[in-house]
Amino acid sequence: MMDDKSTSSTRPASWALVTGSTSGIGQQTAIRLAEDGYSVVVSGRDKARAEQTQALIEAAGGSAVGLVADLSDPSAVRGLIAEVNQLLQGEPLDVLVNNAGGGGFAPTEATTEQMFDAAFNTHVKAPYLLTGAFAPAMAERGHGVIVNIGSMSTTMATNGTSAFQASKAALDMLTKSWTAEYGPRGVRVNSVAPGFVITPANEAYRDGYGGFLASLPAGRGARPEEIAEVIRFLVSPQASYIQGATIVADGGKSAVIAL
Ligand SMILES: NC(=O)c1ccc[n+]([C@@H]2O[C@H](COP(=O)([O-])OP(=O)(O)OC[C@H]3O[C@@H](n4cnc5c(N)ncnc54)[C@H](OP(=O)(O)O)[C@@H]3O)[C@@H](O)[C@H]2O)c1
Repeated sequence: MMDDKSTSSTRPASWALVTGSTSGIGQQTAIRLAEDGYSVVVSGRDKARAEQTQALIEAAGGSAVGLVADLSDPSAVRGLIAEVNQLLQGEPLDVLVNNAGGGGFAPTEATTEQMFDAAFNTHVKAPYLLTGAFAPAMAERGHGVIVNIGSMSTTMATNGTSAFQASKAALDMLTKSWTAEYGPRGVRVNSVAPGFVITPANEAYRDGYGGFLASLPAGRGARPEEIAEVIRFLVSPQASYIQGATIVADGGKSAVIAL
């Protein structure tokens, strides 16, 4: 099991770091990337859940390392980068999934500076620092994949989630900026925009969310596995010509007007 910071298993051929992989979409993504042969760095704030995710992957024959860091704190992000570099022993990271985040929803006047900073630190600054740390080596080697997890609410607003939405919209723009910057050197950067996904974060709304879920063309919320499969595809060589894109997985929400 993990010591205070981490635990590692067998030496991998390729490495993937999935932030926010102790739960929900990130956990399902970590499991799938491990199935695809990556040694996965599992990361989140909760040590017990990091251990559980690592154990799930190892029980299925995969390789994982659990690292604990609160990505709303830039110094903890720098600590995570240092730990990953130590783990990789000079080898480049092959895949970075910037997934950690969620929550902090409040009307603008009730959003404290601390809540605002937490949203932007977690959804924008942490991915920015991680990409700045790992993308150059990917580019130098001529290949690598970055997937940013945005939200359907970067293109359509909902009431009472302004800091969340603005921060996720900024992350979507970074997908394009990094495609301009690193794309010509073999690094594919894309976003996934999930709709409503039934994860521990919103379990309470599983049965309807005020009729919203029933109104979707899909008629239901997504399972985290369904979003993880999109991420898995974007990481795979099958997605070799997809760069700078946002793949929407929202059960049809953004395609139709509900009258
Ligand atoms: N669920 C949805 O409907 C939905 C829709 C659109 C976009 N998204 C996005 O999808 C991503 C994953 O969400 P989810 O639904 O899978 O939620 P989830 O089940 O609550 O998982 C969130 C993950 O992010 C980690 N995390 C959160 N804040 C963190 C922080 N400050 N530092 C480090 N790790 C942090 C959590 O780690 P710990 O629990 O260990 O702290 C957990 O592993 C989020 O970015 C979210 O905004 C979700």
